[in-house]
Amino acid sequence: MDDALRTLLDELYRDGLQYDGAQSDRLNRRRNLEPDAAALLSVVIQAMGARTVVEIGTSNGYSTIWLADAVAPVGGRVLSVDLDAAAQELAAANLAAAGLDKCVELRRCDGGAVLAELPDGGCDVLFLDSERPEYPGWWPHPVRVLRPGGLLAVDNVLSHPDEVAPLLRLIHAEPTLTATVVPVGKGELLAVKAVS
Ligand SMILES: C[S@@+](CC[C@H](N)C(=O)[O-])C[C@H]1O[C@@H](n2cnc3c(N)ncnc32)[C@H](O)[C@@H]1O
Repeated sequence: MDDALRTLLDELYRDGLQYDGAQSDRLNRRRNLEPDAAALLSVVIQAMGARTVVEIGTSNGYSTIWLADAVAPVGGRVLSVDLDAAAQELAAANLAAAGLDKCVELRRCDGGAVLAELPDGGCDVLFLDSERPEYPGWWPHPVRVLRPGGLLAVDNVLSHPDEVAPLLRLIHAEPTLTATVVPVGKGELLAVKAVS
């Protein structure tokens, strides 16, 4: 990542913290991914040579920029989904400022509905960063859409253990997934789908 992009991301993150501090309603906050968790995803995505990344929960595009920067060198694409039109307008502007808008599709839609319509095995990386209690209702699509060797990443597994517990039970019961929790940011669950 070049210095100019890192500076833009640092400014976005600082601005997000300040903005969120002034919002009493949690749902109005940007709730950007922590930079160390974003850097972890970037490293893993680049190590995989991932080209097809799906993100549920765009907010203002902070994490989307990290994901797009990770796939851009191999000509990859990010589909980022959010229900909030205003947030996605901000995301579009931030991605354009980062010079990464061409490799991202922003879609205003429910994450579960989008996952249900994606084809089997077409996704290298799926990143879940929206309302955690909804995830179990999306099962089995989060694992169905992953290609063999694909990665499921879920944020907030250490900050909100009760909310993610039902999803973790599904993941641990799924024989094709091997999962671990990395204590960066608010806790990233990483689960890889078996190759065979
Ligand atoms: C934690 S924020 C995402 C933060 C973002 N990934 C980042 O790091 O900048 C959660 C987002 O999920 C969106 N969201 C909530 N429920 C959703 C759903 N069912 N489908 C898609 N997006 C949803 C919210 O509008 C909100 O913008």
